[in-house]
Amino acid sequence: MTMSRRKAISLIGGGTVLAATAATAGFLTTRTPHSALKPWKAAGDYSEPRKFALSYAILAPNPHNRQPWIVDLRQEGKIILLRDPQRNLPMTDPYNRQITIGLGCFLELMSIAATQQGLGVKHDLFPQGEDGPVAISTFTPGAQPDPLFSQVMQRRSCKEPFEDRPVPADLATTLADFATIIDQADPVAALRKLTWDAFMVEAMTPHTMRESVDLMRFGKAEIDANPDGIDLGGPFLETLMLAGQLTREDQLDPSSNGFQQGIEIYRDMLAATPAYAVLTSTTNTRADQIDAGRKWLRLNLMTTRLGLALHPVSQALQEYPEMAAHYNTAHDMLAEPGHTVQMLGRLGFGPKVQQTPRWPLETRIAHG
Ligand SMILES: Cc1cc2nc3c(=O)[nH]c(=O)nc-3n(C[C@H](O)[C@H](O)[C@H](O)COP(=O)(O)O)c2cc1C
Repeated sequence: MTMSRRKAISLIGGGTVLAATAATAGFLTTRTPHSALKPWKAAGDYSEPRKFALSYAILAPNPHNRQPWIVDLRQEGKIILLRDPQRNLPMTDPYNRQITIGLGCFLELMSIAATQQGLGVKHDLFPQGEDGPVAISTFTPGAQPDPLFSQVMQRRSCKEPFEDRPVPADLATTLADFATIIDQADPVAALRKLTWDAFMVEAMTPHTMRESVDLMRFGKAEIDANPDGIDLGGPFLETLMLAGQLTREDQLDPSSNGFQQGIEIYRDMLAATPAYAVLTSTTNTRADQIDAGRKWLRLNLMTTRLGLALHPVSQALQEYPEMAAHYNTAHDMLAEPGHTVQMLGRLGFGPKVQQTPRWPLETRIAHG
């Protein structure tokens, strides 16, 4: 996540930022975490068809950018996808529901990329039950290229305020094939409130906030060393770090100025939302969660194609006791009784944002 000049200045006051910027101009021009972004450059640079597809799959959206995927390539023409148990989010995702959705995004992106080489992919999900591999994916010839592939390199989760203009009706209609789109004033207002209230529960519950803060990477060196989690980088955030205004300690201390300012930024962002996209499922099996991920990925590629921004806001969907009231409200608002809301996202016109870090493909291959 990088931060705009406007935001950074509002965070600590213009004078300090400008002084710090002038003093460190040379330093600031070199703040891009090139190593952490290399996998975006390497995508497609593989002749072996499975690695070609995987080099795009690792660019999939996934919760807190944990990248919980490991692949085994020992069987020819197949990919065995495993979930890395080291990359769970036990506080905010105790049943690995969201982690599984991220793996669904990965599988769909793998399939879309494979079609560029004329290959179809059949996914056999949880063939040994939920404690075994997530999928055994078999590559077979004879597929047509998927047109959504053209959006893969531009797709983002846009964690920024959106413009104050509605989602045009024709675009909402197009997206209705991909998700439920909510753009009427009353439900949008109710969801703005819900997402904010739920965010505050996560922020004010020490163990859930710590989970996020532990995953924050402060600046280029930390981001390059651990290209996952919540990346706090770019010239202005690094200026704040240099000025001592953005620290890990502050992010854990609700009484600190840094924490309070972060909350304000989030409040503004959540409020600047003209519409939402929702995915629900009738049941809540692992296969449903994978399916939700596959749908979310296609939705995100389609919003990209339409020039719209999409941003998951998952706090109200999380399954821990402190969140229960908001979880119930979300389900009352968005799902039939007994169904599960798998994804909720902000939808609108947003700024172009940077790519997020990834671990290189080679580090995600367990065998082969
Ligand atoms: C299941 C799921 C839940 C997510 N929940 C949130 C969320 O609550 N807040 C947020 O800012 N991003 C959320 N994200 C987005 C991830 O943070 C994002 O995909 C990741 O950082 C990689 O960035 P990218 O999508 O721009 O490539 C979620 C993504 C997935 C797949």
